[in-house]
Amino acid sequence: MNDAVIYCTSIISSYHVFSILTSSLLIHSLNKNFHIQITNQLNTPQVLPTYSGKAGDGEPLLESLIWLLLTSEVPTKEQVDTLTAELHQRASKLPSHVIPLINSLPKDMHPMTQFSIGLNAAQTGSEFAKAYANGVPKNEYHKYALEDILNVFAIIPEIAAQIYRNVYFDGVVTKDQSLDYSGNFCRMLGYDDPSFDELMRLYLCIHTDHEGGNASAHTTHLVGSTLSDPYLSYAAGLNALAGPLHGLANQEVLRWIQALQAKFEAEGKEVNAETITEFAWETLNAKKVIPGYGHAVLRKTDPRYSCQREFGLKHMPDDPLFKIVETIYSVMPGILTEHGKVANPYPNVDSHSGVLLWHYGFTQYQYYTVLFGVSRAVGGLCQLYWDRALGLPLERPKSHTPEWLETFAKNNP
Ligand code: MLT
Repeated sequence: MNDAVIYCTSIISSYHVFSILTSSLLIHSLNKNFHIQITNQLNTPQVLPTYSGKAGDGEPLLESLIWLLLTSEVPTKEQVDTLTAELHQRASKLPSHVIPLINSLPKDMHPMTQFSIGLNAAQTGSEFAKAYANGVPKNEYHKYALEDILNVFAIIPEIAAQIYRNVYFDGVVTKDQSLDYSGNFCRMLGYDDPSFDELMRLYLCIHTDHEGGNASAHTTHLVGSTLSDPYLSYAAGLNALAGPLHGLANQEVLRWIQALQAKFEAEGKEVNAETITEFAWETLNAKKVIPGYGHAVLRKTDPRYSCQREFGLKHMPDDPLFKIVETIYSVMPGILTEHGKVANPYPNVDSHSGVLLWHYGFTQYQYYTVLFGVSRAVGGLCQLYWDRALGLPLERPKSHTPEWLETFAKNNP
């Protein structure tokens, strides 16, 4: 993740508490060592080394990020190792009925639907729900919420892996708890390539969250504000993530790039800046969008795109799909700026992730959003921990009268 910056701010509430952050949390990699840099308006950095499987030269561990988001403190290597061991141990908290339930689901049910069902079913293990039923005082909610949150982090890789192995393979899930969270997840999915482990470490870190206003983290916060426990709250977040305008977008970008590749091949055209430019204008003139470009809030290249690009340059510079993504990136911001219809002509996170996964033979793109969902749990649920610790209230939208609507319509023709 050299020189890459990732916005990761769903935990804005926590950083308000610690007065560290008012705008964004930046994860920053400098030279060979990965760092997390938190900047506030005064631009005061905090630097967090993370402890990758590859000493000093690798991708960050998700455990380090969890630690930071829950404590606002930079973990030591020992603390990270302790958290890894703790999460492995908590994996046994997966209720025994969940895997048989997943095994009974139709194989053609979308993997995200299965994921949501699996997490909802695991809710029988909620310590928060039990404590609430037993009348625990309000100022102790956060302790039980934290138990659930750590348990959810611990059990979701197995739920996700079981779905993958059932839908596409033999249903067999094999763990290796001598590895970190991401490495073990890769083994459960059936991948045994250290380079793919590195991609998974990067992938799980960068998709955790950014700027908390996204639909899945916000849904988790909204549902959690009713004092639904973390299992139910994040299952709701997963349902939001399953939408085509949200997490499902990554599979659509990959399909678009592959369709472009096939079309050029069929027409005997080379993929280069000129042919892509021509194709982009055809697409835009037909009033279609360029998938993977633009973002609701970002106004520059999504830093998560840049991290993935750097990973691609390091691990697969000659991969044909990676080269297409690079060529698109070299011309598209200019084309979209000239077109003038979009607020942000730069690529977002979804623009790159599918191509990297495809390189390692992870070709089941219908499943990609489940990987996103394993990661987003960390952003959404760390935020939920702070919601409970701060005693944040039930969220409710404002209502308006018909008179207000009339005035609004008149003033906004
Ligand atoms: C995300 O990370 O959830 C996406 O960038 C979408 C968003 O932020 O709205």
